[in-house]
Parts: sequence; structure tokens; C-alpha cells
Amino acid sequence: MISNKEPGNNYLSGVKNIVAIASGKGGVGKSTIATNLAVAMALEGLKIGILDADIFGPSLPKMLGIEEERPRVKKVGNKDIIIPVQKHGVNILSIGLFVSRFDATVWRGPMASKVLKQLITDADWGELDYMFFDLPPGTSDIHLTLVQTIPVTGAIIVSTPQEVALADAIKGISMFRGEPIDVPILGLVENMSWFTPEELPDKKYYIFGKDGCKKIADKFSVPVLGQIPIVQSLREGGDSGVPSVIENEIIGQSFKDLASNVIKHIDYRNKHIKPTKVVEITRK
Ligand SMILES: Nc1ncnc2c1ncn2[C@@H]1O[C@H](COP(=O)(O)OP(=O)(O)O)[C@@H](O)[C@H]1O
Ligand SMILES: [Mg+2]
Repeated sequence: MISNKEPGNNYLSGVKNIVAIASGKGGVGKSTIATNLAVAMALEGLKIGILDADIFGPSLPKMLGIEEERPRVKKVGNKDIIIPVQKHGVNILSIGLFVSRFDATVWRGPMASKVLKQLITDADWGELDYMFFDLPPGTSDIHLTLVQTIPVTGAIIVSTPQEVALADAIKGISMFRGEPIDVPILGLVENMSWFTPEELPDKKYYIFGKDGCKKIADKFSVPVLGQIPIVQSLREGGDSGVPSVIENEIIGQSFKDLASNVIKHIDYRNKHIKPTKVVEITRK
């Protein structure tokens, strides 16, 4: 496997590919896509990590069923190094594992950025094929901190086919592509593409509109990596902590297809686009 990492970057030195999962709008399914994609890839035998970078609204502990777990810490020299929690074959860290789930995390931007940085730099992520960052919605300080800390291989933008979500997805694309960030867009994932009732398996209801992501993808010359329908068990899996990709054959297959597309486009990116540089922003 080709990696895009530049030699000389110390952080996440054992991680071959760093993938940001982003969206413009909240609630479009970033965390659902990130968890199920990560677990689908782990089921294929790949070494996978996922970092919940939604510092203000972490949802991975619940979605991956690790709310009660607390990461262990080891001493390296005189430094405390956090060991990611393992579940469903995936290495996971989230700020939600360090604060009570009943506490509202009210932090100022710089504090949130510092926490994200620590979860990257003060943790033993080891050797990974792919590491996903489940980002907060929008274009925030957290996004900037990420690209200023490590070289992000590429970004996946999640959107529903709805106009208001697509308008925000475009902002996400522009942020990653624009100066000074310059992170390649691997593609779009369209979530909640249609709804098929169990009793009418041949019907597709396009509740949020049809092929909305395809239109944006064509306009910005990026691929649609997958379309994920509205499925009750995806929601239930998110609430129960057992990602439905594990138990539901149809969802399992859609995420397997998504995973192979993601891998294909990362390989293409690594062959054809120069390695991402860590962003240096000098404030005037
Ligand atoms: N394809 C889907 N089918 C059914 N429910 C979904 C689907 N995608 C997301 N959900 C549900 O929608 C809600 C928002 O999803 P989430 O992944 O938390 O979005 P985000 O991380 O973008 O804020 C969650 O309750 C999740 O279970
Ligand atoms: Mg989320």
C-alpha cells in the first residue's frame, strides 16, 4: 500500500493514511458513516483507527459501545501516553471517554483545539492502515488544528441529497481545497439517499431529493464514493453501540462497497497527487 506521508513528520508516524470525515451541516450522518466504514474496513482485516474530533458533541463512545470505558495511560519517560480503546476491531479515542457523558462540555475554541492535539500527539496509535477523523460540522478551529498538526491524506464529505445540506457541503469542499489547507477531496458520501420500507422492498422513496450529491460531485469533479439509504437499523445500531454493519447483511454490503471505493480512491490519490503538507499558518 502506498502512503502519502512525508518523511520527517513525527506525529502518527505509523499511520499510513489519515482521512478526515467532514460535512457542512450537522446531523447528516458523519459519525454514522465514519463508525460503520471503520468497522467494515476492520472486518476486512485492515488496521483501523478512529478519532472523535467532534470535541463539543462526541458521539463515537455511544455509537461504538464504549461509553463506560476509560482509556489506559502508560508512562513513556516522564510523559503520560494514552492507549486508544479497542472495540469491534477498531482503535478509538474520543474526548467523550474522558468526561462524564452527563457533563456538557463547554469549552472555548483554543481549549478544544488543545484537546484534539493531545489525542493525536499524546496517544499511542501504533501502526494503522487508515485513521479516520470524525469532524464536527462546518468549518471550525478544529479543522484548522487538524491540518496544522498532521498531513491529512484526504477528506470525505458527507451530505444528504437535500439542497440545504449540499450548499454547506460545497463550503466544506472549498475549505479543504482552498488555500492554505490544500487537502484533496477523496469524494462525497451521500447519506439518507432513499428510504425503502421493509414491507415494500422494491420501492425507493427519495425523501431528501434524488442524486443531489451526484450533481455537486460532477460540478466539482469529485466522485460519489457511496450512497447509503435511510435504514432503521443504522439508527438503532448507532444507539445500541453495535454498528449495524456487523449484524445487517444489506448494510454490511453497502459499507463493504463504500470501503473498497474509499481504498481505491486513496490509492489513486497517493499515486497521482503529491503528499499533503502540514499547514503552517502565520498570523500577521
Ligand atoms: N442512513 C441512516 N439511516 C438511519 N438513520 C441514520 C442514518 N444516518 C444517520 N442516521 C441517524 O441520524 C442521526 C444523526 O447522525 P450522525 O451520524 O450523528 O450525524 P453527524 O455526525 O453528521 O452529526 C443519528 O441519530 C443517526 O443514528
Ligand atoms: Mg457526529
